[in-house]
Amino acid sequence: MSKLFAAVDWNDEAFTKAPQSVLSQLPSECPVHAGDGGAFHVTSRAAVDAVLKDPATFSSHGAISLGAADPLIPLEVDPPHHHRYRVLLDPIFAPRKVAEMEGSVTALVNDLIDDFIDTGSTELVQSFTEPLPSTVFLNLLGLPLDNVAEFLRLKDGIIRPPGTTDDELAAARVAAGMDIYTMFEGVIAQRSASPQDDLVSHFLSAEVEGEKLTREEILGICFLFLLAGLDTVAGQLSVSFAYLLEHPEARRTLAQHPESIPAAVEEFLRWETIVSGIARKTVVDTDLFGVAIPAGSPVHVMIGAANVDETEFSDAMTVDLYRNPNRHLAFGGGIHRCLGSHLARLELRVALREFHRRIPEYRVADNDAVSWILNSPLRSAARLPISF
Ligand code: HEM
Repeated sequence: MSKLFAAVDWNDEAFTKAPQSVLSQLPSECPVHAGDGGAFHVTSRAAVDAVLKDPATFSSHGAISLGAADPLIPLEVDPPHHHRYRVLLDPIFAPRKVAEMEGSVTALVNDLIDDFIDTGSTELVQSFTEPLPSTVFLNLLGLPLDNVAEFLRLKDGIIRPPGTTDDELAAARVAAGMDIYTMFEGVIAQRSASPQDDLVSHFLSAEVEGEKLTREEILGICFLFLLAGLDTVAGQLSVSFAYLLEHPEARRTLAQHPESIPAAVEEFLRWETIVSGIARKTVVDTDLFGVAIPAGSPVHVMIGAANVDETEFSDAMTVDLYRNPNRHLAFGGGIHRCLGSHLARLELRVALREFHRRIPEYRVADNDAVSWILNSPLRSAARLPISF
């Protein structure tokens, strides 16, 4: 059992690139595992569902360390307060609202492609997968687009901090977190003085249950948006392209049958599961599938393993671009299920559709290679050099 867990090594490039065969053994071998240092690992679909649906026992409050001085809102807020924020935020990211963005996202995707299509080659992370979600996000928040580079720097300070030891990484995250607060404090001050048609202005005037949000609450929401909205879509797009570079037949399916793209996006979300694990902490002593877990224990919910659990997915180790049904957990589950899933799906769908319409054939550039980001909470390709 422990041997299997020892193989889960996000510092190892071969594992990070293709973790599925190791992860797929975990649900049947050890659905709930007492690991080193008092942490528990939850791997089977049934056990993961049980944890995510029981926030009273498995809390996210204080379970996540991403450099924020205050709890991330709504991710680290437990019920009943959590509901207050989702009532405010859900309508902004509802399917109908997101569908209205399809035209602008399509135009943006095509602008990005225009910048490199005549050159016959590009490095896709820099030219496509990173700028797309950052620009969508800056538009949403109403921030100037020439801030993209600064945003990427701030976000990288949290997601990919410099340093090697846990202490160094934590200190770097806190420093980057302070910079992010300072930046958003400036935006909040500007919008308080002159409101505009954007999200920060909306947060400043919004009322939930008759109360306005405090400045700290708005900061907590913006901080999480920065982390949740930029790297996730960029990472998911990058791993989808990494897969397509290795599987020409899948690439041709997307190019020749664009109607396959919505289901393919779901299968890439399942198969690649870029947020491989999510964090919880037990509030009380509990028992999960026969394993006693004391109060205060860190619980690592391995949605990447649950997404290749054969009890939920037939032929779980086969990538089926037309898989249906596909009840994957790439966006989590329960009350904290991803707020931005509809926006993420729109960006992924439009990006893959427009890219394959305009560049149906492409390959890894000669004398170059795809590389991966290691030791990160998100699976993501570091470089995708292609020629076409
Ligand atoms: C492919 C892209 C994305 C993936 C794979 C993803 C994944 C996830 C996952 C797994 C969770 C649950 C975390 C937990 O329970 O601890 C989550 C929550 C969340 N996500 Fe996403 N996400 C993506 C895109 C986005 C985008 C574009 C936004 C934009 C706002 C966003 C905003 C959030 C927020 C605010 C939460 C917390 C919800 C709550 O606590 O109620 N995500 N996401």
